Amino acid sequence: MSNRQAMNTVLEFHQKKQNGQRISLTTCYDYWSACILRDTPIDAVLVGDSASMVMHGYPSTVHASVEMMVWHVAAVARALPSMFIIADLPFLAHRKGTEFLMQSVDRLMKAGAHAVKAEGGSEVIAEIQHIIQSGVPVMGHLGLTPQSVNMLGGHKLQATRPEAADKLVNDALLLEDAGVFALVLEMVPAGLAQQVTQKLKIPVIGIGAGPHTDGQVLVLQDLLGMSKDFSPKFLRKYLNGYELIKEALIRFDADVKNGNFPSEKESYV
Ligand code: KIV
Repeated sequence: MSNRQAMNTVLEFHQKKQNGQRISLTTCYDYWSACILRDTPIDAVLVGDSASMVMHGYPSTVHASVEMMVWHVAAVARALPSMFIIADLPFLAHRKGTEFLMQSVDRLMKAGAHAVKAEGGSEVIAEIQHIIQSGVPVMGHLGLTPQSVNMLGGHKLQATRPEAADKLVNDALLLEDAGVFALVLEMVPAGLAQQVTQKLKIPVIGIGAGPHTDGQVLVLQDLLGMSKDFSPKFLRKYLNGYELIKEALIRFDADVKNGNFPSEKESYV
């Protein structure tokens, strides 16, 4: 078990913004990745609904369900007893009535989340307020909201027109007033993200939103270079995971087939 200093309350998100300290987040969906994250200084993990694409091969996050998210949250939580875990509310969970919403929140929190993330602004403000008033911290998510990908016409840059930029700023202020503890801004121009970051007291965490936000989040598999074909402009790959893992598997296959594995040292007498 690691003795790392966990970022384990929402208050620390606020403190970090006040102190001008940047916040790092990655997604995480499974136990073994979480065991590695446990031994890093990464501040918190997001069990994102991107799990439906990254782990299950679906074309969008529309396919994530509460059931799916609960399994992933529980696996991550088993490895991270003292790290702050945020769970995505999946597609339509906050659009199916209060009872369904609160049952979903209940299941995600009992699975081990410390907070939930909800996509959307003014359209879902009443639902977000209801969750917060129930004592559950909520992270907001504006800009590219992937659950609305079919409305947005693809995973692309958002709020490029002045009216859309104004709506985003207003939504961000509304969410802050509603009590969200942090806000994800995805795929928006860097200048707009900077403006929102300066206006809000809560931390703004960017993805494809330039360098001026209070923190950054990336999908773990993206930053590890696990997909050879996914290379959007905003992504920095810290590892060529795809090639490294492929090479290891090719070497294993060769060792098995030419009789090099196992050796005597790797055998029981
Ligand atoms: O589901 C997810 O991975 C996310 C991040 C991209 C912020 O919402």
